[in-house]
Amino acid sequence: MHKKSHLEERLEACRGILTIADLGQKNMKLAAMQRTLFNFGEIFSNSNPVHLEIGCGKGGFVNKMAFLHPDINFIAVEKISNVMIEACESALSLGLENVHFLICAAEVLQKYIPEHSVERIYLNFSNPLPKQGYVKQRLTNPRFIQIYKTLLKEEGEIWQKTDDEPLFDYSLESFKECGCTILSVCRDLAASPFEDNVITEHEQKFMDMGKKIYRAVIRV
Ligand SMILES: C[S@@+](CC[C@H](N)C(=O)[O-])C[C@H]1O[C@@H](n2cnc3c(N)ncnc32)[C@H](O)[C@@H]1O
Repeated sequence: MHKKSHLEERLEACRGILTIADLGQKNMKLAAMQRTLFNFGEIFSNSNPVHLEIGCGKGGFVNKMAFLHPDINFIAVEKISNVMIEACESALSLGLENVHFLICAAEVLQKYIPEHSVERIYLNFSNPLPKQGYVKQRLTNPRFIQIYKTLLKEEGEIWQKTDDEPLFDYSLESFKECGCTILSVCRDLAASPFEDNVITEHEQKFMDMGKKIYRAVIRV
């Protein structure tokens, strides 16, 4: 993807709703330990529940969710600023006050998100990374699930959607390996839709291609 024009200036214009990870420390584990934790009360001026989307892309999902659920605060994380800028600009144009964006890699989430502060994590159409050499980069690799466990409240949930069956099966195994409870599994969302499903950009693309959408709800 070409770098968007005036990207730095555009990111700067979104700073009221955007945090950009300051990673002086290149070692992700050490970076995660150098805490600069969010104060949700200060960010959102309320104490509503917090939901977190990891890999939000252009933000279609999180912005619609924030619009539909003004009593929930959303944190949306994406590692590519060139993509994230669209999410931030559309939130600003919609005047959303219950969404905050964080440009950072999921590996460093503990630097920003306080322990046991999040009620739900959304993993929507995470990159499948089919090659064995990239298994550790999958957002449902056990090393990420261990991070999610520290962020989620007791009884917190992970809601996953994907078009990729091998990633879906891999994820279910990873969740079980980490001691999580699989609350529900759907292998064809079109055949058994759930009420209030908000469709993501990738979901729409795969539905248009006639692909099945897989969905699971997991309790940590
Ligand atoms: C295939 S896109 C899906 C975007 C959106 N969730 C959707 O459903 O349309 C996956 C996104 O996850 C982001 N991503 C992948 N690994 C990540 C990581 N470790 N930390 C943060 N974002 C990540 C990618 O940059 C990409 O934008």
